[in-house]
Amino acid sequence: MNEYIAIETSPSLQGTVDLAGAKNAILVIMASLILTRGKSTLSNVPYSEDVLHMIRLLESLGAQVVHDEETKTLTVDTSSISSVHIGPDIMKKMRASILVLGPLLARFGKADVALPGGCVLGMRPIDYHIKSFAKMGATFTQSNDLLHAQANSLKAIDHILAYPSVGATENIMMAAVLAKGSTRIINAAIEPEVLDLVEVLRKMGARIELEAPATIIIEGVSSLESINHHVMYDRLEAGTLILAAAITGGGIALPTAPAASMTVFLSLLEEMGHEVTFGLQGQGIFFKATSHPRAVSFKTMPYPGFPTDLQAPMMAALCLASGTSVIHETVYENRLVHVRELQKMGAQIVIDGQTATVVGVDELYGAAVIASDIRAGAALLIAGLAAHGQTTMTGVHHIKRGYDGIVPKLAALRGRISAHYDEC
Ligand code: EPU
Repeated sequence: MNEYIAIETSPSLQGTVDLAGAKNAILVIMASLILTRGKSTLSNVPYSEDVLHMIRLLESLGAQVVHDEETKTLTVDTSSISSVHIGPDIMKKMRASILVLGPLLARFGKADVALPGGCVLGMRPIDYHIKSFAKMGATFTQSNDLLHAQANSLKAIDHILAYPSVGATENIMMAAVLAKGSTRIINAAIEPEVLDLVEVLRKMGARIELEAPATIIIEGVSSLESINHHVMYDRLEAGTLILAAAITGGGIALPTAPAASMTVFLSLLEEMGHEVTFGLQGQGIFFKATSHPRAVSFKTMPYPGFPTDLQAPMMAALCLASGTSVIHETVYENRLVHVRELQKMGAQIVIDGQTATVVGVDELYGAAVIASDIRAGAALLIAGLAAHGQTTMTGVHHIKRGYDGIVPKLAALRGRISAHYDEC
């Protein structure tokens, strides 16, 4: 079946949205449950294909998983895990599957996994993960696409990351919580989703401290308990919806948005001329768009910088801003593929290496476009809402992987958008 999303020129988006749990927090939190022996309950679980893949992955190891979509809860009993093998059919579905390597090594001293898949955003190697585990005493052999890892006991050591990789920080942390002694991760990623994992691991009984600006210190413990945890709200879904409101000149309320973790993004929106009001205690955003947005320039950076995952959606909104925006992607070497699709809609964008220069135009036009990754898809939905005529977007499996019901949410805000596919 040809799956697509159809989008028509929409009135200004208005309304209040309940955000989903964070995609980039839930996947690693689910992986971290391997460290425990018992029944854990996660709430505020987003419904997306990646979550379903991670459920299948845990089940393939022997875990008992009950997923209640109505209450958005997931109960995972890891006491029955007996396998450390994950084949390519599951591993290739998403890059986040590599996050089981640390927990499997920590609990079982071995792992037998295929190399991961995921969005194509350049090379996306896993060398930091492998080198760090090797320094902790793990040995690796690779046959074809299968990685065999073995570690009789993991050593607590200092890790100095050449780049603050989110996944490597998470994987090292999960491997280190059961390693005897003191581990330090220097130049660690401190994304809010990493900190949600820290909270989960602490609930399990792990001893973890953060030292400014970006060092994580872990004192190994001998065992960890099962937990209950409410997954943080998705700042990237919040950003996507705000940009959809921005491009249509609308106003929306996101009472659960983790505003405190979105300051660089929100300050750029203010620089564009939009109005942003914060809720109490860093939670909740009330957004009102200007009818004359101005161009702004930015580069993507590890947290607390501008998130790469909002680069494409932000670019879509800047296509209709007055003036010239210069956008520099520093996190991935291949995350400007959406430019070609935005150009089909009339956007004036020139790419030079990792830099996109966007000259604001008065109008965008509906076109047949293809999503090349989750956030590229989000950018095209945003552009489609403001474009004249109909936009049809294929490549919707990317949207289904990473967003929980983004189409009905936009429709409820008055977006003229419809999904032509089966829910995952
Ligand atoms: N990198 C390496 N070697 C490694 C690991 C990473 O060179 O061993 C490079 C990557 O190739 C990339 C950069 O470091 O160029 C950043 O990668 P990072 O490890 O930080 O990203 P990740 O853990 O693979 C997570 C999110 C991504 C998000 C990035 C950056 C999850 C499941 N994924 O990926 O989310 O872009 O952090 O914030 O948490 C998305 O949501 O659309 C998405 C791609």
